[in-house]
Amino acid sequence: MLRVVVCVSGGGTNLQAMIDGIKEGRINNAGIVRVISNNRDAYALKRAEENHIPGVCISPKDYADREAFHKALLEAVREAEPDLIVLAGFLVVIPKEMIAEYTNKIINIHPSLIPSFCGTGYYGMKVHEGALNRGVKITGATVHFVDEGTDTGPILLQKPVEIMEGDTPEILQRRVMEEAEWILLPEAVDAIANGRVEIKDNRCRILKNRKDSGVS
Ligand code: GAR
Repeated sequence: MLRVVVCVSGGGTNLQAMIDGIKEGRINNAGIVRVISNNRDAYALKRAEENHIPGVCISPKDYADREAFHKALLEAVREAEPDLIVLAGFLVVIPKEMIAEYTNKIINIHPSLIPSFCGTGYYGMKVHEGALNRGVKITGATVHFVDEGTDTGPILLQKPVEIMEGDTPEILQRRVMEEAEWILLPEAVDAIANGRVEIKDNRCRILKNRKDSGVS
């Protein structure tokens, strides 16, 4: 079983999509072993509790400086011995040591078609505001592996979503979640858990059949 740690900051609907995916058999060979939030009030922690998943809050407010916070975050991850770390709306810059220690073992969901509306400053609602302000007709979501850059790692999955007349950032956010994010993230975890993901030269491929265990 692939041991999955999920890092979240807010509502946790993507966490819920993975919980449901596991319950409903759309994700096989994986289990969520810990939920980590930087925000004590995150509804995601409630979802974890309701589903008997150990949840922990590592808030920067509880540490003297960034370094101490990063150390505690990495420790909370290590303790859970993850095979995969999923950033599901985790609005914290991941420490460099963590990225080095878990190369090709961290994925992130981003609510746009990367490389549009991504990078520094584009997170949550700001992504949808950016898409609407630019007047694009298609947006979507992306699941990618995490490297040292912001939203620059190998792309695993993408799904387009249409922008409609009269959309507000809130309406668009909901549509991107329903039509893309909640589908892609369980698909990505299932593919990784079943050895169907290959990364070569910074490009990612999902195979029809299992290759061998883990990401290669
Ligand atoms: C999601 O839309 C996710 O794609 C986004 O935050 C939201 C979290 O919602 N992540 C980013 O913007 C990362 N750059 P949720 O807590 O309901 O899953």
